[in-house]
Amino acid sequence: MAKRYERYLITSALPYANGPVHIGHLAGVYIPSDIYTRYLRLRGRDVLSICGSDEHGVPITITARKEGITPQEVVDRYHVLIKRSFERLGISFDIYSRTTSPVHADTASEFFRKLYDEGKFIESSSEQYYDESAGEFLADRYIVGTCPRCGFERAYGDQCEKCGSTLSPDELGNPHSALSGSKLVKRETKHWYLPLNLYEDALRKWILEGHREWKTNVYGQCKSWLDGGLQPRAVSRDLNWGIPVPVEGAEGKVLYVWFDAPIGYISATKELTPDWEKYWKDEDTKLVHFIGKDNIVFHCIVFPSMLMAHGGYILPDNVPANEFLNLEGDKISTSRNWAVWLHEYLDEMPGKEDVLRYVLCANAPETKDNDFTWKDFQARNNNELVAVLGNFVNRALVLTTKYYDGVVPACGELTDYDRATIEEIKSVKEALESNIENYRFREALKEAMNLARIGNKYLADSEPWKVVKSDPERVKTILWLSLQITANLATAVEPFMPFTARKLLTMLGMEGFDWERLGETSLLEAGHRIGKPELLFEKIEDDVIERQMAKLEDIKRRNAEAAAAAEAATATVEAQKAEITFDDFSRNDIRVSTIIAAERVPKTQKLLHLTIDTGIDTREIVSGIAEYYEPETLVGRQILVLVNLEPRKIRGIESRGMILMAADPSGRLTLLSPAADTANGSVVG
Ligand code: MF3
Ligand code: ZN
Repeated sequence: MAKRYERYLITSALPYANGPVHIGHLAGVYIPSDIYTRYLRLRGRDVLSICGSDEHGVPITITARKEGITPQEVVDRYHVLIKRSFERLGISFDIYSRTTSPVHADTASEFFRKLYDEGKFIESSSEQYYDESAGEFLADRYIVGTCPRCGFERAYGDQCEKCGSTLSPDELGNPHSALSGSKLVKRETKHWYLPLNLYEDALRKWILEGHREWKTNVYGQCKSWLDGGLQPRAVSRDLNWGIPVPVEGAEGKVLYVWFDAPIGYISATKELTPDWEKYWKDEDTKLVHFIGKDNIVFHCIVFPSMLMAHGGYILPDNVPANEFLNLEGDKISTSRNWAVWLHEYLDEMPGKEDVLRYVLCANAPETKDNDFTWKDFQARNNNELVAVLGNFVNRALVLTTKYYDGVVPACGELTDYDRATIEEIKSVKEALESNIENYRFREALKEAMNLARIGNKYLADSEPWKVVKSDPERVKTILWLSLQITANLATAVEPFMPFTARKLLTMLGMEGFDWERLGETSLLEAGHRIGKPELLFEKIEDDVIERQMAKLEDIKRRNAEAAAAAEAATATVEAQKAEITFDDFSRNDIRVSTIIAAERVPKTQKLLHLTIDTGIDTREIVSGIAEYYEPETLVGRQILVLVNLEPRKIRGIESRGMILMAADPSGRLTLLSPAADTANGSVVG
């Protein structure tokens, strides 16, 4: 099983260039892949880390329409933002390309063309909804109609946002176009399908028999797909954004985004190096796809089938997919703006790149969904990074500067405690390696931090600041060992916190250490002069966290308002009533009146007892507006009253007349008042 590979090809799911990157993406995909890549590089392995923007697909065209710009403008904007944000966080891709690149268009077209020429596709026509006024076939998202489950009238062809059901366009009642509003017709259209069923046996053998070591969530999903039986899948779409289907008679058709995007890994490698084939076609390459759990089927079933159909390519050795990260107890959502956006974090928390990397790794959703909270972020920074790692390193370096003018002292005679500590340090290398190589990055990070814990405990137990008075020779050994631990930390934390590792090296006055020497206590020679000690981490105060939480509260409030407004907007306006004559209307005697007293009707929720001056007389009216108005705010207010309504006794009060109100589609009531002060008794009509 433990095959020794010559080289590594690491891919990270290409993010859609349809919005910025958030902490969920980072925790799920990009931080793990960067840890893995940095680790391999530290070990001197031949490794390429590949990523880029996924710039095709229907959602990008929706954003473009919404904003009145072209899809190209949408992806240009987000591609640059995403690329730059990754760089700022120290995510060290060897290339960050994009699927609108010319090399990618060629690569994806050739890929399709080869399969097409070799008869690997099924060509099949079906009836699809067509918008005659827009002159195009509609993607499921562009079709709206009535949800068969809940009756919501603006459900999409792929999903009802009211009840959450997954739908297909054929299930919608009264389907019409979201683009033009017009009714849809069915038209025949031809598409190409990859018969996944033909690869089922090979996939079973490869995954179910050959890769039992995959994470249980990944293996389990693959098994259930395979056990369910695979069907041919369309690899083309009727859409005007994407890579044109490169065959005759395919006008207006593009490659399905999930066909072209994974080929993007290949195109990006091609752009990076003329040696790309070695990485993609040689069995001695270990290919690893880092993805989120919603991508499993595409990376374990669909893309491998494409690669098998094509021939000549290797398959991934592993597909470590993470679960999802939630934010403060709620699912992260781009459309609801419920996220911590990477570019905003970088702007608002300068110098804290490694804090985010640390927290997202320490809390990564490796085996189950996890929750990010700002309180946890603060606690991990203050109690772990500051109190353990920063504190240890700072004490070791400051004491060395103070006692020895920054020169590494020589090791004297070792005590049993020193020896036990040295043994403990040795074990970290093996623990780090086996955890990282098995994609257990949280555990690995714990091991790296454990070095700092060992160091902290060592200093606390040996108290050099006290011993210095009685036994200055002993202190040399204590600080010698503390400095060796610090040097080990510079290597051990690098994959997780590269900025911190760099600072550590600068403070130690060193270039770097070979991974193979991790665990040794001879990394720094006696007599070597270290640099100036600086704090590695700062405490994060409550106000910083409160600002972030207030920002989220704000988003929550705005979402609730938007939801209420949308709800009100979709509630239907009542149909017009039957026609009446002018005479019918003029039998209503409506007068401007003023409320002179108002109180709740005891033991009721909705009723107010009003005393009003109608200009004709003073009278009592019972009105059902208590849910909307506090009685004391009504006194003095002018309203309109139907005065000749037959009197009625309500809760023992003789109610003479009716207050006019408007009821909006959701049933909310509003009083009607004259636009300016008007004499009581004025006739309305
Ligand atoms: N853009 C997809 C997503 O964010 C991932 C594409 S991965 C690739 O879910 F393999 F297709 F590139
Ligand atoms: Zn519904």
